[in-house]
Amino acid sequence: MDVLLEKIDLSQPAPTEEPMRQYYFIKKAKEYVKKAEEAAGRPLTACITTFGCQMNARDSEKLAGILEQIGYQETEDEEHADFVIFNTCTVRENANMRVYGRLGQLNHAKKQNPHMMIALCGCMMQEPEVVEKLKKSYRFVDLIFGTHNIYKFAELIATRFESERMVIDIWKDTDKIVEDLPTERKYSFKSGVNIMFGCNNFCSYCIVPYVRGRERSRDPKDIIREIEKLVADGVVEVMLLGQNVNSYGKTLEHPISFAQLLTEIEKIEGLERIRFMTSHPKDLSDELIEVMKHSKKICRHLHLPVQSGSSRILQKMNRRYTKESYLELVRKIKEAIPDISLTTDIIVGFPGETEEDFEETMDVVRKVRYDSAFTFIYSKRTGTPAAIMEDQVPEEIVKERFDRLLAEVQKISAEVCAIHSGTVQKVLVESVNAHDPSLVTGRLSNNILVHFPGNEELIGTLVDVRLNECKGFYYIGEAI
Ligand code: 5AD
Ligand code: SF4
Repeated sequence: MDVLLEKIDLSQPAPTEEPMRQYYFIKKAKEYVKKAEEAAGRPLTACITTFGCQMNARDSEKLAGILEQIGYQETEDEEHADFVIFNTCTVRENANMRVYGRLGQLNHAKKQNPHMMIALCGCMMQEPEVVEKLKKSYRFVDLIFGTHNIYKFAELIATRFESERMVIDIWKDTDKIVEDLPTERKYSFKSGVNIMFGCNNFCSYCIVPYVRGRERSRDPKDIIREIEKLVADGVVEVMLLGQNVNSYGKTLEHPISFAQLLTEIEKIEGLERIRFMTSHPKDLSDELIEVMKHSKKICRHLHLPVQSGSSRILQKMNRRYTKESYLELVRKIKEAIPDISLTTDIIVGFPGETEEDFEETMDVVRKVRYDSAFTFIYSKRTGTPAAIMEDQVPEEIVKERFDRLLAEVQKISAEVCAIHSGTVQKVLVESVNAHDPSLVTGRLSNNILVHFPGNEELIGTLVDVRLNECKGFYYIGEAI
């Protein structure tokens, strides 16, 4: 990177081609940061906070890569950082409220630190009402951009250094995918890898298609190249990321299926584990089940959001499967891969949900017996079809159903977790245990957490562990 930056001549205009244009702005921003550092008489620090899903977590690694390149030192001390960025989520209303709350606190911190810059990006910024509100009531924010142009981060920072005003750059959509920008990974041994962006499903409750744009798949060659580089750099586990990975590749110039992509990734030497999310049940193919069944590297875990067990509600949600077809899919998966762990997302209180509909959801939970389930109270998102549906369910009823569902999910999940007791399985060690430094913490192929005696030298390695004691949703074990 340094060699590349050295060749760039800032007295020339910025190149128009990407990623060269961004390298130019990285160099430029670096000079601004250096000047600010001299003025402050100390190194400048940056703090990134990520809300929402794995996609956002991966985007934040890209933001961190750029901040590091231009000379900021990473810190977790938000209040005293010189650059604070919130990578936001807007899937439910409370995610937005948290951002406004945190921003209010930052206003005070900014008054104490003249070097402080505040940036906001991510899904919430794709909502025009949000940007209006920020422009009106949060004037102290320096930089606002959305989900389609995070690759322009360096350019936007340079622009902010050159002007005294709030910089706002939001795109409605894009067909552009810019490759080969710096990233700063959170873990040395595992990494998310975007395989596609956007979503075309338009589930009636969901804001994602509006904030992440239309579906675009990355070229398989670029994906393989990225994973090969990661493996050369010490990564043993990748998580392939997309809103709907099962429809990967359909719109490429030379279409390929997700199952075919997995087969190619499996061949990468040195890569030990492959995970992916999220799968939409309507697109999960027999071909994928077959590939998973025979794979040595694809983890025994499928996240298969059901959202509701009622076919009537599923239709109103525009999910394009029924309770019966979902259960049939689960049956097929379990038959082919008996040791698979299934997890799900469930929404309680979708408009028009009756007690009978809710009982159908409970029935699916009892029949599938999920390893774990993320349960959500329905949140009305302006602009989605469900927001204007009649029969919004009263809050007390939703809350009561939610509690019943959670109790059932937790009971089953403890029972399902316990079936591995006494077995020996491979654990990818992730960290030293935060509460007890004599233990390390890692994950099984099926994603269950395991703690066992060990030291930090084991981080990033696969260890055979006997699962001695199930503690509900995790295990205490010992290396053998
Ligand atoms: N209200 C509640 N939960 C939602 N999800 C998506 N949109 C909403 C909403 N409006 C949940 C879904 C999805 C998960 C990421 O968030 O269950 O799978
Ligand atoms: Fe992820 Fe959706 Fe939240 Fe965006 S809105 S961060 S895509 S969960």
